[in-house]
Amino acid sequence: MDLSVYPPNAALDDGRLILGGCPVAEVAEEFGTPAYLIDAAGLRARAVAFQEALTSRHPHSQVLFASKSFPTPSVMGLIADTGCGLDVAGLGELLAAERTGIDPSRVVLHGNAKSDAEIAKAIEMGVGYIVVDNLDDVVRISRLANQPVPVLLRVSPSVDAETNPAMATGHDTSKFGIPSHQIEDAIAQIRREPMLDLRGLHAHVGSQILNVDQFEQAIASLAKLERFDVYDVGGGLGIRYVPSDAAPTIDEYAERLVSAVHHHLGTDVELMIEPGRSMVGPNGITLYRVVTVKRGVRTHVAVDGGMGDNLEVSLYGQPFDPAIIDKSGRLEVCDVVGRHCESGDTFVTGHELMEPAVGDLLVIPATGAYTFTMSNNYNGALRPPVVFCEDGSARVGVRRETYEELLGRDLR
Ligand code: LLP
Repeated sequence: MDLSVYPPNAALDDGRLILGGCPVAEVAEEFGTPAYLIDAAGLRARAVAFQEALTSRHPHSQVLFASKSFPTPSVMGLIADTGCGLDVAGLGELLAAERTGIDPSRVVLHGNAKSDAEIAKAIEMGVGYIVVDNLDDVVRISRLANQPVPVLLRVSPSVDAETNPAMATGHDTSKFGIPSHQIEDAIAQIRREPMLDLRGLHAHVGSQILNVDQFEQAIASLAKLERFDVYDVGGGLGIRYVPSDAAPTIDEYAERLVSAVHHHLGTDVELMIEPGRSMVGPNGITLYRVVTVKRGVRTHVAVDGGMGDNLEVSLYGQPFDPAIIDKSGRLEVCDVVGRHCESGDTFVTGHELMEPAVGDLLVIPATGAYTFTMSNNYNGALRPPVVFCEDGSARVGVRRETYEELLGRDLR
Protein backbone atom coordinates (compact mmCIF):
# COMPACT_ATOMS: atom_id res chain seq x y z
CA MET A 1 0.00 0.00 0.00
CA ASP A 2 1.41 3.40 -1.05
CA LEU A 3 1.15 5.75 1.95
CA SER A 4 2.72 8.75 0.20
CA VAL A 5 -0.50 10.81 0.18
CA TYR A 6 -1.51 9.67 3.68
CA PRO A 7 -1.03 11.87 6.77
CA PRO A 8 2.46 11.82 8.28
CA ASN A 9 1.42 9.67 11.24
CA ALA A 10 -0.12 6.94 9.09
CA ALA A 11 1.73 3.64 9.12
CA LEU A 12 1.30 -0.04 8.43
CA ASP A 13 1.68 -2.46 11.32
CA ASP A 14 1.72 -6.03 10.15
CA GLY A 15 -0.45 -5.00 7.19
CA ARG A 16 -2.94 -3.06 9.31
CA LEU A 17 -3.42 0.67 8.76
CA ILE A 18 -2.62 2.79 11.81
CA LEU A 19 -3.33 6.52 12.10
CA GLY A 20 -1.87 8.50 14.98
CA GLY A 21 -1.15 5.22 16.74
CA CYS A 22 -4.78 4.06 16.40
CA PRO A 23 -5.61 0.95 14.36
CA VAL A 24 -8.06 2.35 11.83
CA ALA A 25 -10.22 -0.79 11.99
CA GLU A 26 -10.73 -0.17 15.72
CA VAL A 27 -11.71 3.44 15.04
CA ALA A 28 -14.30 2.11 12.59
CA GLU A 29 -15.68 -0.27 15.22
CA GLU A 30 -15.90 2.43 17.86
CA PHE A 31 -17.23 5.37 15.84
CA GLY A 32 -18.81 3.72 12.80
CA THR A 33 -18.47 4.64 9.15
CA PRO A 34 -18.31 6.83 7.18
CA ALA A 35 -16.04 8.97 9.32
CA TYR A 36 -13.51 11.76 8.80
CA LEU A 37 -10.26 10.90 10.59
CA ILE A 38 -7.68 13.57 11.37
CA ASP A 39 -4.01 13.05 12.19
CA ALA A 40 -4.05 15.61 15.02
CA ALA A 41 -0.28 15.65 15.60
CA GLY A 42 0.29 15.91 11.84
CA LEU A 43 -2.06 18.86 11.63
CA ARG A 44 -0.43 20.64 14.54
CA ALA A 45 3.01 20.02 13.03
CA ARG A 46 1.88 21.43 9.70
CA ALA A 47 0.46 24.54 11.34
CA VAL A 48 3.80 25.05 13.09
CA ALA A 49 5.70 24.36 9.84
CA PHE A 50 3.73 27.06 8.02
CA GLN A 51 4.47 29.57 10.77
CA GLU A 52 8.17 28.69 10.95
CA ALA A 53 8.55 28.75 7.17
CA LEU A 54 7.09 32.24 7.08
CA THR A 55 8.42 33.90 10.24
CA SER A 56 11.97 32.56 9.73
CA ARG A 57 12.04 34.43 6.42
CA HIS A 58 9.85 37.37 7.37
CA PRO A 59 9.39 37.89 11.13
CA HIS A 60 6.48 40.31 10.81
CA SER A 61 4.12 37.74 9.37
CA GLN A 62 1.05 35.78 10.32
CA VAL A 63 -0.47 32.52 9.13
CA LEU A 64 -4.28 32.57 9.18
CA PHE A 65 -6.00 29.22 8.75
CA ALA A 66 -8.72 29.54 6.08
CA SER A 67 -11.52 28.16 8.24
CA LYS A 68 -13.77 27.48 5.25
CA SER A 69 -11.72 24.39 4.48
CA PHE A 70 -12.72 22.83 7.84
CA PRO A 71 -14.96 25.25 9.74
CA THR A 72 -15.49 23.54 13.04
CA PRO A 73 -14.21 24.88 16.38
CA SER A 74 -12.37 21.64 17.19
CA VAL A 75 -10.22 21.79 14.04
CA MET A 76 -9.93 25.58 14.01
CA GLY A 77 -9.03 25.56 17.72
CA LEU A 78 -6.37 22.88 17.30
CA ILE A 79 -4.71 25.03 14.63
CA ALA A 80 -5.23 28.33 16.47
CA ASP A 81 -3.63 26.85 19.60
CA THR A 82 -0.36 26.54 17.67
CA GLY A 83 -0.35 30.32 17.12
CA CYS A 84 -2.15 30.65 13.79
CA GLY A 85 -4.87 33.21 13.26
CA LEU A 86 -8.18 32.41 11.56
CA ASP A 87 -9.66 33.69 8.32
CA VAL A 88 -13.44 33.46 8.46
CA ALA A 89 -16.09 34.11 5.85
CA GLY A 90 -19.53 34.59 7.30
CA LEU A 91 -21.21 34.67 10.68
CA GLY A 92 -21.13 30.89 11.20
CA GLU A 93 -17.36 30.79 10.83
CA LEU A 94 -17.01 33.92 12.96
CA LEU A 95 -18.99 32.26 15.76
CA ALA A 96 -16.90 29.10 15.34
CA ALA A 97 -13.76 31.23 15.72
CA GLU A 98 -15.21 32.83 18.85
CA ARG A 99 -15.92 29.35 20.24
CA THR A 100 -12.22 28.41 19.91
CA GLY A 101 -11.34 31.13 22.40
CA ILE A 102 -8.86 32.75 20.01
CA ASP A 103 -7.87 36.38 20.61
CA PRO A 104 -10.21 38.16 18.12
CA SER A 105 -7.37 40.38 16.96
CA ARG A 106 -6.04 37.25 15.17
CA VAL A 107 -9.27 36.85 13.19
CA VAL A 108 -9.86 38.32 9.72
CA LEU A 109 -13.37 38.56 8.26
CA HIS A 110 -13.94 37.93 4.54
CA GLY A 111 -17.00 37.69 2.34
CA ASN A 112 -18.18 39.05 -0.99
CA ALA A 113 -21.71 39.56 0.38
CA LYS A 114 -21.36 40.43 4.04
CA SER A 115 -24.56 41.07 5.95
CA ASP A 116 -25.09 43.77 8.56
CA ALA A 117 -25.17 41.03 11.19
CA GLU A 118 -21.74 39.70 10.16
CA ILE A 119 -20.13 43.10 10.13
CA ALA A 120 -21.74 44.11 13.43
CA LYS A 121 -20.51 40.92 15.12
CA ALA A 122 -16.99 41.35 13.72
CA ILE A 123 -16.89 44.92 15.03
CA GLU A 124 -18.28 43.87 18.41
CA MET A 125 -15.67 41.10 18.72
CA GLY A 126 -12.87 43.42 17.63
CA VAL A 127 -11.46 41.29 14.80
CA GLY A 128 -8.02 42.16 13.47
CA TYR A 129 -9.22 43.21 10.04
CA ILE A 130 -12.38 43.25 8.00
CA VAL A 131 -11.51 42.68 4.36
CA VAL A 132 -13.52 45.10 2.24
CA ASP A 133 -14.64 43.31 -0.93
CA ASN A 134 -16.95 45.94 -2.43
CA LEU A 135 -18.19 49.47 -1.86
CA ASP A 136 -21.34 48.28 -0.08
CA ASP A 137 -19.06 46.90 2.63
CA VAL A 138 -17.73 50.46 3.01
CA VAL A 139 -21.24 51.84 3.49
CA ARG A 140 -22.16 49.12 5.98
CA ILE A 141 -19.00 49.42 8.07
CA SER A 142 -19.40 53.23 8.20
CA ARG A 143 -22.96 52.87 9.39
CA LEU A 144 -22.28 50.16 11.99
CA ALA A 145 -18.97 51.32 13.50
CA ASN A 146 -18.56 53.97 16.14
CA GLN A 147 -14.79 53.97 16.09
CA PRO A 148 -12.37 53.40 13.17
CA VAL A 149 -12.26 49.76 12.04
CA PRO A 150 -8.98 48.38 10.62
CA VAL A 151 -9.68 47.14 7.10
CA LEU A 152 -7.86 45.64 4.14
CA LEU A 153 -9.09 46.09 0.58
CA ARG A 154 -9.46 42.94 -1.52
CA VAL A 155 -8.27 43.65 -5.04
CA SER A 156 -8.01 41.63 -8.19
CA PRO A 157 -4.36 40.78 -8.85
CA SER A 158 -5.24 40.18 -12.53
CA VAL A 159 -3.86 36.65 -12.50
CA ASP A 160 -5.60 33.90 -14.46
CA ALA A 161 -4.98 31.03 -12.08
CA GLU A 162 -4.04 27.66 -13.56
CA THR A 163 -6.65 25.67 -11.67
CA ASN A 164 -10.25 24.51 -11.95
CA PRO A 165 -12.24 27.58 -13.13
CA ALA A 166 -14.51 27.25 -10.08
CA MET A 167 -11.50 27.87 -7.84
CA ALA A 168 -9.87 30.72 -9.79
CA THR A 169 -10.46 34.10 -8.16
CA GLY A 170 -7.61 36.35 -9.29
CA HIS A 171 -8.97 37.54 -12.63
CA ASP A 172 -10.61 40.90 -13.29
CA THR A 173 -14.03 39.39 -14.05
CA SER A 174 -14.10 37.56 -10.70
CA LYS A 175 -16.96 38.20 -8.30
CA PHE A 176 -14.35 38.75 -5.57
CA GLY A 177 -12.59 42.02 -4.84
CA ILE A 178 -12.21 45.21 -6.81
CA PRO A 179 -11.20 44.91 -10.49
CA SER A 180 -7.86 46.51 -11.27
CA HIS A 181 -9.17 49.60 -13.08
CA GLN A 182 -11.31 50.61 -10.08
CA ILE A 183 -8.81 50.06 -7.28
CA GLU A 184 -7.54 53.63 -7.01
CA ASP A 185 -11.08 55.01 -6.78
CA ALA A 186 -12.01 52.45 -4.14
CA ILE A 187 -8.96 53.38 -2.06
CA ALA A 188 -9.90 57.06 -2.30
CA GLN A 189 -13.47 56.32 -1.32
CA ILE A 190 -12.42 54.30 1.74
CA ARG A 191 -10.09 57.10 2.82
CA ARG A 192 -13.01 59.53 2.84
CA GLU A 193 -14.77 57.42 5.49
CA PRO A 194 -13.65 58.23 9.04
CA MET A 195 -14.89 54.88 10.38
CA LEU A 196 -12.61 52.86 8.06
CA ASP A 197 -8.90 52.66 8.76
CA LEU A 198 -7.35 51.29 5.56
CA ARG A 199 -4.17 49.43 6.49
CA GLY A 200 -3.43 47.31 3.44
CA LEU A 201 -4.40 45.11 0.54
CA HIS A 202 -5.61 41.55 0.12
CA ALA A 203 -5.37 39.34 -2.96
CA HIS A 204 -6.23 35.65 -3.42
CA VAL A 205 -5.32 34.05 -6.73
CA GLY A 206 -7.34 30.86 -6.37
CA SER A 207 -7.15 27.41 -4.84
CA GLN A 208 -5.16 24.22 -5.59
CA ILE A 209 -2.42 26.31 -7.21
CA LEU A 210 0.56 24.10 -8.02
CA ASN A 211 2.63 26.65 -9.90
CA VAL A 212 4.12 29.07 -7.37
CA ASP A 213 4.93 31.56 -10.15
CA GLN A 214 1.30 32.57 -9.85
CA PHE A 215 1.77 33.83 -6.30
CA GLU A 216 4.76 35.87 -7.48
CA GLN A 217 2.65 37.36 -10.26
CA ALA A 218 -0.01 38.42 -7.76
CA ILE A 219 2.58 40.08 -5.55
CA ALA A 220 4.13 41.86 -8.54
CA SER A 221 0.73 43.15 -9.48
CA LEU A 222 0.04 44.45 -5.94
CA ALA A 223 3.33 46.37 -6.21
CA LYS A 224 1.93 48.40 -9.11
CA LEU A 225 -0.36 50.11 -6.60
CA GLU A 226 0.67 52.50 -3.86
CA ARG A 227 2.54 50.98 -0.90
CA PHE A 228 0.71 49.88 2.24
CA ASP A 229 1.85 48.55 5.62
CA VAL A 230 -0.07 45.26 5.41
CA TYR A 231 -0.40 42.64 2.66
CA ASP A 232 -2.54 39.53 2.93
CA VAL A 233 -1.80 37.37 -0.09
CA GLY A 234 -4.51 34.78 0.56
CA GLY A 235 -4.25 31.01 0.40
CA GLY A 236 -4.21 28.67 -2.53
CA LEU A 237 -1.21 26.35 -2.22
CA GLY A 238 -2.09 23.04 -3.89
CA ILE A 239 -1.63 19.56 -2.44
CA ARG A 240 -1.08 16.00 -3.66
CA TYR A 241 -4.22 13.87 -3.90
CA VAL A 242 -2.81 10.79 -5.64
CA PRO A 243 0.71 9.37 -5.55
CA SER A 244 1.56 10.60 -9.06
CA ASP A 245 0.82 14.24 -8.09
CA ALA A 246 3.62 16.70 -7.36
CA ALA A 247 3.12 19.79 -5.20
CA PRO A 248 5.43 22.48 -3.83
CA THR A 249 6.56 21.99 -0.23
CA ILE A 250 5.68 24.57 2.43
CA ASP A 251 9.32 25.74 2.36
CA GLU A 252 9.42 26.09 -1.43
CA TYR A 253 6.21 28.08 -1.29
CA ALA A 254 7.37 30.31 1.59
CA GLU A 255 10.73 30.91 -0.06
CA ARG A 256 9.23 32.08 -3.34
CA LEU A 257 6.49 34.08 -1.67
CA VAL A 258 8.72 35.93 0.78
CA SER A 259 11.38 36.62 -1.87
CA ALA A 260 8.70 38.12 -4.08
CA VAL A 261 7.36 40.21 -1.20
CA HIS A 262 10.86 41.47 -0.34
CA HIS A 263 11.62 42.20 -3.97
CA HIS A 264 8.35 43.93 -4.86
CA LEU A 265 6.90 45.27 -1.61
CA GLY A 266 9.84 45.60 0.76
CA THR A 267 11.08 43.93 3.93
CA ASP A 268 9.18 45.99 6.49
CA VAL A 269 5.58 45.13 5.59
CA GLU A 270 3.24 42.96 7.66
CA LEU A 271 2.63 39.81 5.64
CA MET A 272 -0.29 37.42 6.02
CA ILE A 273 -1.21 34.19 4.25
CA GLU A 274 -4.41 32.13 4.48
CA PRO A 275 -3.74 28.44 3.78
CA GLY A 276 -6.77 26.17 3.97
CA ARG A 277 -6.41 23.10 1.74
CA SER A 278 -2.64 22.88 2.21
CA MET A 279 -3.04 23.08 6.00
CA VAL A 280 -5.68 20.47 6.63
CA GLY A 281 -6.02 18.51 3.36
CA PRO A 282 -3.04 16.17 3.75
CA ASN A 283 -3.93 15.40 7.38
CA GLY A 284 -7.37 13.92 6.81
CA ILE A 285 -8.62 10.59 5.51
CA THR A 286 -12.19 9.34 5.08
CA LEU A 287 -13.10 5.89 6.28
CA TYR A 288 -15.90 3.86 4.67
CA ARG A 289 -17.22 0.33 4.71
CA VAL A 290 -17.90 -1.59 1.52
CA VAL A 291 -21.64 -2.26 1.25
CA THR A 292 -21.88 -4.15 -2.04
CA VAL A 293 -19.62 -5.50 -4.74
CA LYS A 294 -21.42 -5.83 -8.05
CA ARG A 295 -19.50 -7.73 -10.71
CA GLY A 296 -21.25 -6.92 -13.98
CA VAL A 297 -19.85 -5.25 -17.08
CA ARG A 298 -17.64 -3.46 -14.60
CA THR A 299 -16.94 -4.20 -10.95
CA HIS A 300 -18.73 -1.61 -8.84
CA VAL A 301 -17.51 -1.42 -5.27
CA ALA A 302 -20.08 0.67 -3.39
CA VAL A 303 -19.33 2.19 0.00
CA ASP A 304 -21.56 3.68 2.71
CA GLY A 305 -20.72 7.30 1.82
CA GLY A 306 -20.05 9.29 -1.34
CA MET A 307 -21.04 12.70 -2.61
CA GLY A 308 -22.83 13.37 0.68
CA ASP A 309 -19.47 13.55 2.43
CA ASN A 310 -17.13 14.40 -0.46
CA LEU A 311 -18.19 16.66 -3.32
CA GLU A 312 -14.69 17.11 -4.75
CA VAL A 313 -15.18 14.56 -7.53
CA SER A 314 -18.65 15.72 -8.53
CA LEU A 315 -17.80 19.42 -8.50
CA TYR A 316 -14.20 19.50 -9.69
CA GLY A 317 -13.38 16.03 -11.07
CA GLN A 318 -10.74 15.63 -8.38
CA PRO A 319 -8.87 12.29 -8.65
CA PHE A 320 -8.51 10.24 -5.45
CA ASP A 321 -6.66 7.08 -4.46
CA PRO A 322 -9.01 4.79 -2.47
CA ALA A 323 -7.64 1.62 -0.92
CA ILE A 324 -9.10 -1.36 0.85
CA ILE A 325 -7.16 -1.67 4.06
CA ASP A 326 -5.96 -4.44 6.34
CA LYS A 327 -6.08 -7.05 3.62
CA SER A 328 -3.75 -8.88 1.32
CA GLY A 329 -4.54 -10.77 -1.83
CA ARG A 330 -5.07 -10.21 -5.50
CA LEU A 331 -5.69 -6.77 -7.02
CA GLU A 332 -8.89 -6.31 -8.99
CA VAL A 333 -9.78 -3.39 -11.28
CA CYS A 334 -12.90 -1.68 -9.94
CA ASP A 335 -15.03 1.45 -10.02
CA VAL A 336 -15.34 2.84 -6.50
CA VAL A 337 -18.80 4.33 -6.15
CA GLY A 338 -20.86 6.02 -3.44
CA ARG A 339 -24.32 5.20 -2.08
CA HIS A 340 -26.12 8.19 -3.59
CA CYS A 341 -28.70 8.17 -6.35
CA GLU A 342 -26.76 9.53 -9.27
CA SER A 343 -24.10 8.13 -11.55
CA GLY A 344 -21.84 11.11 -10.83
CA ASP A 345 -21.44 9.71 -7.33
CA THR A 346 -18.32 7.81 -8.39
CA PHE A 347 -14.98 8.27 -6.64
CA VAL A 348 -12.80 6.68 -9.28
CA THR A 349 -13.09 4.32 -12.22
CA GLY A 350 -10.67 1.60 -13.36
CA HIS A 351 -8.87 1.57 -10.03
CA GLU A 352 -7.12 -1.41 -8.46
CA LEU A 353 -8.46 -2.61 -5.10
CA MET A 354 -7.43 -5.57 -2.96
CA GLU A 355 -10.02 -8.35 -3.47
CA PRO A 356 -13.02 -6.20 -2.55
CA ALA A 357 -15.69 -7.86 -0.43
CA VAL A 358 -18.72 -6.73 1.55
CA GLY A 359 -17.69 -5.47 4.99
CA ASP A 360 -14.17 -4.42 3.98
CA LEU A 361 -12.89 -1.06 5.15
CA LEU A 362 -12.02 1.41 2.40
CA VAL A 363 -9.99 4.56 3.01
CA ILE A 364 -9.64 7.64 0.83
CA PRO A 365 -6.60 9.75 1.76
CA ALA A 366 -6.06 13.52 1.30
CA THR A 367 -9.67 14.34 2.15
CA GLY A 368 -8.96 16.77 4.99
CA ALA A 369 -10.00 19.92 3.15
CA TYR A 370 -13.42 21.00 1.90
CA THR A 371 -15.11 17.62 2.47
CA PHE A 372 -16.61 18.06 5.94
CA THR A 373 -17.57 21.66 5.12
CA MET A 374 -19.48 20.75 1.96
CA SER A 375 -21.06 17.60 3.36
CA ASN A 376 -24.78 17.37 2.83
CA ASN A 377 -27.83 15.19 3.42
CA TYR A 378 -28.43 13.89 -0.09
CA ASN A 379 -30.58 10.76 0.16
CA GLY A 380 -31.05 11.45 3.85
CA ALA A 381 -27.40 10.72 4.60
CA LEU A 382 -26.25 11.73 8.07
CA ARG A 383 -23.16 13.92 8.14
CA PRO A 384 -20.21 11.85 9.43
CA PRO A 385 -18.25 12.46 12.62
CA VAL A 386 -14.78 13.97 12.83
CA VAL A 387 -12.39 11.83 14.87
CA PHE A 388 -8.93 12.97 15.97
CA CYS A 389 -6.36 10.18 16.15
CA GLU A 390 -3.27 10.88 18.21
CA ASP A 391 -0.86 8.94 20.44
CA GLY A 392 -2.93 5.80 20.21
CA SER A 393 -6.22 7.36 21.26
CA ALA A 394 -9.15 8.44 19.16
CA ARG A 395 -11.45 11.25 20.29
CA VAL A 396 -14.49 12.81 18.68
CA GLY A 397 -14.20 16.39 17.44
CA VAL A 398 -17.67 16.47 15.89
CA ARG A 399 -20.15 13.67 16.55
CA ARG A 400 -22.20 11.99 13.83
CA GLU A 401 -25.45 13.72 12.92
CA THR A 402 -28.59 11.92 14.13
CA TYR A 403 -31.87 11.17 12.35
CA GLU A 404 -33.61 13.41 14.90
CA GLU A 405 -31.40 16.29 13.74
CA LEU A 406 -31.92 15.36 10.11
CA LEU A 407 -35.73 15.50 10.43
CA GLY A 408 -35.97 17.94 13.31
CA ARG A 409 -36.15 21.12 11.23
CA ASP A 410 -39.16 19.94 9.27
CA LEU A 411 -42.40 21.17 10.84
CA ARG A 412 -44.80 18.48 9.63
N1 LLP B 1 -8.49 33.00 1.39
C1 LLP B 1 -9.57 33.28 0.63
C2 LLP B 1 -10.03 34.66 0.54
C3 LLP B 1 -10.24 32.26 -0.05
O1 LLP B 1 -11.29 32.54 -0.79
C4 LLP B 1 -9.78 30.92 0.08
C5 LLP B 1 -10.47 29.82 -0.58
C6 LLP B 1 -8.66 30.68 0.91
C7 LLP B 1 -8.04 31.74 1.52
C8 LLP B 1 -8.11 29.31 1.11
O2 LLP B 1 -7.63 28.74 -0.06
P1 LLP B 1 -6.89 27.33 -0.03
O3 LLP B 1 -5.59 27.53 0.70
O4 LLP B 1 -7.75 26.37 0.67
O5 LLP B 1 -6.69 26.98 -1.45
N2 LLP B 1 -14.76 24.57 -2.51
C9 LLP B 1 -13.48 24.35 -3.14
C10 LLP B 1 -12.41 25.27 -2.63
C11 LLP B 1 -12.76 26.73 -2.79
C12 LLP B 1 -11.75 27.64 -2.15
C13 LLP B 1 -12.36 28.96 -1.84
N3 LLP B 1 -11.52 29.93 -1.27
C14 LLP B 1 -13.09 22.88 -2.94
O6 LLP B 1 -13.88 22.12 -2.42
O7 LLP B 1 -12.01 22.48 -3.35
